[in-house]
Amino acid sequence: MRKICVIGTGYVGLVTGACFSDLGNQVVCLDIVKEKIERLERGEMPIYEPGLEEVVARNVAAKRLAFTSNYADAVPGADFIFIAVGTPSGVDGEADLQYVRMAAESISDALTSYAIIINKSTVPVGTGDSVAQILIERGKKSGVDFDVVSNPEFLQEGSAVYNFQQPDRVVLGSTNHDAAAQVAQLYLPLRCSIMITDLRTAEMIKYASNAFLATRISFINEIATICEKLGADVKEVAAGMGMDKRIGRAFLDAGVGYGGSCFPKDVKALAWMGEINGCHPQLLRAVMDINRDMRRQVLAKVRELLGGARGKTVAIWGLAFKPNTDDIRDAPAFDIIHILQMEGAAIRAYDPVAMPNAQAALKQVMFCENAYCAAEGADALVIVTEWNEFKYADWARVGASMKQKIVIDGRNIYEPDKLRELGFTYRGVGRGYGA
Ligand SMILES: NC(=O)c1ccc[n+]([C@@H]2O[C@H](COP(=O)([O-])OP(=O)(O)OC[C@H]3O[C@@H](n4cnc5c(N)ncnc54)[C@H](O)[C@@H]3O)[C@@H](O)[C@H]2O)c1
Repeated sequence: MRKICVIGTGYVGLVTGACFSDLGNQVVCLDIVKEKIERLERGEMPIYEPGLEEVVARNVAAKRLAFTSNYADAVPGADFIFIAVGTPSGVDGEADLQYVRMAAESISDALTSYAIIINKSTVPVGTGDSVAQILIERGKKSGVDFDVVSNPEFLQEGSAVYNFQQPDRVVLGSTNHDAAAQVAQLYLPLRCSIMITDLRTAEMIKYASNAFLATRISFINEIATICEKLGADVKEVAAGMGMDKRIGRAFLDAGVGYGGSCFPKDVKALAWMGEINGCHPQLLRAVMDINRDMRRQVLAKVRELLGGARGKTVAIWGLAFKPNTDDIRDAPAFDIIHILQMEGAAIRAYDPVAMPNAQAALKQVMFCENAYCAAEGADALVIVTEWNEFKYADWARVGASMKQKIVIDGRNIYEPDKLRELGFTYRGVGRGYGA
């Protein structure tokens, strides 16, 4: 049993804290947002993540997991302090490190004995050194010793608990190999591959991994755009490509493009790091351009089929940036809705879990209690998030309630021929002439 403190109770911090306590460690999760801590203390989840509630409840009951908003309650006596605060995009695309700096300062002020400070937030190369510098400067008076380790997080929202328990790999980076080896001990029960490298390389592995996955998505989206002109079906193309072991099938689904709290900001931040260091990150720029284009293409299909959006009603299925999460950060649905509204369309929307978050962020949208209700009276239905419950919709019911039977499948989850047989005008992404 080790004593662990996790700073930040978002998607990464809460999962990390809960899952480490599930391995028998004593964990305190800390957040500066008191309301989040109060909700957690009442047994409520501040985020939606499948399986997390059970892990949290089990470990709170066993008194291995506690919550606080006070650094003085969480930091003293901790052997390991994980930083898992947000690193959103700054104005020029750089990672905004204000929360990481604040966390490092607060840790430094509360530290009373040696601890290993582990950065799980996605941070630009060199941030581990800056965190160490903050701790050295502020800790001069107390003289308490520490080490800094980078431990980038690779979990995916929607399967984060599973990803923690069954990671493909754990990457650790430090200037002190012994400190990294001690963090590695925490992960030994997971029996996964553990790589120990230097601090900057570990930080870069995270950005390079996310940029590569985003590149695969933009690659297949570019192929989809070409397929559409040439009469080929990108779904079949991806399936055929994916059978090649050198290529694989993952992240080759054409659609409205990637969104969420990671890929957009991480690709941008990596490009920014390259640019300010005199590189020309042309591939990364193309990845971002293609991603923006995919949202525009869906909008173009709506306009083309409706003869313009003014005065029309558009139903949107899916608001979260992907299924199985309530996260709406940089979700494609938001850009699509905003532009359609600007062009004069009325929006009816439904999402199985992201509606409370979306209601706080979107104006003048009719939020509906289910997918069928959203489709009622609509001139077109746009599928933006591929939730399972949309996959086997009752099309007779949908069609009977729509004003015009038009479906724009932004995630290619339907069989075009089947919907056309049922009398719908169907457009997917990259699926033959006219898609
Ligand atoms: N969400 C993901 O899927 C994912 C995956 C891998 C890596 N990451 C990275 O992990 C980091 C966290 O991401 P997230 O999605 O969990 O963010 P989040 O916004 O969900 O959570 C961050 C939390 O940190 C808290 N916080 C901010 N400043 C604080 C401070 N000084 N002290 C204490 N708490 C503070 C916030 O209140 C918030 O609850 C980011 O760098 C992100 O890029 C995220």
